[in-house]
Amino acid sequence: MVILLIIGGSASQNLTAKIAAELGDEVCPVEIKKFPDGEKYIRIKGKVEEEMVLIQSTGYPQDENLIELIFLISNLKDLGAKKIKVVTPYFGYGRQEKRFEDGEAISAKIVCNLIESVGTTEFISLNLHEDSLKDFFSIPVHNLSAMPVIAEYIKENIENPIVVGPDKGALGFATEIANVLKCESTYLSKIRISPDKVETKIVTDFNDSKIDISSVEGKEAVIVDDIISTGGTIVNATKILKEHGAKSVDVCFVHPVLVNDAVLKIYGAGVRNIIGTDTLTSDVSHLSVASIITKFLKTKNKII
Ligand code: R5P
Repeated sequence: MVILLIIGGSASQNLTAKIAAELGDEVCPVEIKKFPDGEKYIRIKGKVEEEMVLIQSTGYPQDENLIELIFLISNLKDLGAKKIKVVTPYFGYGRQEKRFEDGEAISAKIVCNLIESVGTTEFISLNLHEDSLKDFFSIPVHNLSAMPVIAEYIKENIENPIVVGPDKGALGFATEIANVLKCESTYLSKIRISPDKVETKIVTDFNDSKIDISSVEGKEAVIVDDIISTGGTIVNATKILKEHGAKSVDVCFVHPVLVNDAVLKIYGAGVRNIIGTDTLTSDVSHLSVASIITKFLKTKNKII
């Protein structure tokens, strides 16, 4: 039996409740509050079992959510848990997996090391920004994909789709979905100029089976990506797709980081629907990854 630990007042309560309901499982109550000076107080109020599953995304406010996670893992260990599976649906700090400039802190590595060092015995996330983040851990790591729920949404809602990766990094997502839907896919080329500025171009020298951008003409284009942060990537891709005659542009993605007015900018560029998942809570978290996490936990715990 899996005992789920819900984290009151923080990042993944709704998702935890959905997962617990799907598993027909218990949720361990937790009290989380702040002392008058702003420091976090954590109290696990339920029974701690040998094996626990802890669910907590580490999106904004990243540092607060991360410290909660660390306190909870460490406290579970102190209170007797032997196997602590940590599910971090959105993994914050995941985009600095190397030193881009001399002297930079490799924050993704530091956070992975920290999560493991306090007692995590297995780590689960969805669509980690780089799969290589797994290498920062020495415990088992599972990088699940939310693409099946996105593919299902497109199948149910979009009649004649062409799936588009807004950059080469998203090509894998576009291909995964196109294979399920048996539709066409393509991708664009993107260069990041600064954290909030990107340049996007069409790809002309395809050396794989992807089709030319002109194929979007008259089709319902669906951009797929892992993260929307400032929205710049999607705005640029949308402009190009519209210039090339796409009948409509929808956006489906996993992690709604959504900095500032990202949603407004994307609608302003002419996107019809913005469809994200609930790895982070947001106004566009229309799809749930609960079934993906539940399926994984059931298989791993041999629950039938
Ligand atoms: C980057 O490579 C990611 O896959 C996303 O495309 C990126 O994080 C989106 O950032 P923004 O919304 O700021 O353009």
